[in-house]
Amino acid sequence: MDPMLGLCDLDQLRQRRSAKWRSFPSDVLPAFVAEMDFDVAEPIAAAVRESMAAGDYGYGHIDELGEAFATFAAFRLGWNPDPATVFVLPDVMTGIVETLLAITEPGAGVVVNPPVYPPFHFRVDLSGRQIIEAPLARDEAGRYDLDLAVVEEALSRPETQAYLLCSPHNPSGRVWSSEQLLAVAELCQRHQVPLLIDEIHAPLVLPGATYVPFLSIDHELADQAIAFCSATKGWNIPGLKCAVAVTRSPALQAAMTERWEARLPGILGVSGSIAAFNAGLPWLDAVIAQLDENRIMLASLLAAQLPGVGYVPPEASFLAWLDCQALGLGDNPAETFLERGRVALGRGPDFGRQGAGFARLTLGTSPDLIAAAVDRMAAALAP
Ligand SMILES: Cc1ncc(COP(=O)(O)O)c(C=O)c1O
Repeated sequence: MDPMLGLCDLDQLRQRRSAKWRSFPSDVLPAFVAEMDFDVAEPIAAAVRESMAAGDYGYGHIDELGEAFATFAAFRLGWNPDPATVFVLPDVMTGIVETLLAITEPGAGVVVNPPVYPPFHFRVDLSGRQIIEAPLARDEAGRYDLDLAVVEEALSRPETQAYLLCSPHNPSGRVWSSEQLLAVAELCQRHQVPLLIDEIHAPLVLPGATYVPFLSIDHELADQAIAFCSATKGWNIPGLKCAVAVTRSPALQAAMTERWEARLPGILGVSGSIAAFNAGLPWLDAVIAQLDENRIMLASLLAAQLPGVGYVPPEASFLAWLDCQALGLGDNPAETFLERGRVALGRGPDFGRQGAGFARLTLGTSPDLIAAAVDRMAAALAP
């Protein structure tokens, strides 16, 4: 591994006090949460140290973050957002929920594409809105895709008041094409449904895929939508709690401004994110190269040790969505892997009923720990 990423030494990782390392007993290998095991990028650590040395533990100030995100987006994502359209958040889900509260009525329908990131389901429910499912299509090879006819049916329902799209998509790992995004824009416009796009995994698009930020597309709807991004997945700093919302819509900008208090981040998150966007690109490149290697290695390991598991390598990020239906482990195979193999995977049914029979494995670690996870999964199936 690149020395910038560290060694992912298990004894050292077990010293961490984050939820990943404290949610299970110490004989369990955790691979369930969307976090990576690599050492943090030095510019981020330096920025956090600097804030701490200055006794700076207050609320974050946004000015430089908007600039830093816009510069990163222009350099890496092919998109030139105006920094004045960038709003700070403590995290992406807060931005999504606050937006839904601002623009939809109690009981309104919110369209999502399951299987999808579990909080999309329960945070919408907890906000007093209801999920309208527009499930992804899945072909015989196990590759997922947006089903535009199904999306249109969901958008056309009278109760639908918002569409929450995940791009790149968690857990399928799909990166949507500009044609697909234009088609989504067209459908939202036709049915007058506001669009929220969660682009948190965008910094981690892997070789071979072409990522298109929604607000960069040439469509009127890009002026009305709101996108969410963050350094927290790309640079693995979710505990610093900081994200951004970007929108050119005056109504959504007003909603963000009005909700300033819900959007307050901490200074450590803002400082760390600025450092990531401004000075974290060599580290990001090292991670992307490692994830590229890991996703291919996982395919070989599964073919050799767990041939019954279906796996399509992700096009972005570090999440492997494993089809375990052929193993006969029921709806929640992660339970068997945990109980019998002592490896904690993400629970498929949490991603929607379409996730029954699936489990999610995190690839943001060393090849050795991926091999150890697969060994443990295989051991769970041993007679
Ligand atoms: C698609 C997606 N959105 C949002 C989040 C959570 O982001 P935050 O902690 O900024 O709310 C995650 C975390 O894994 C995610 O995968």
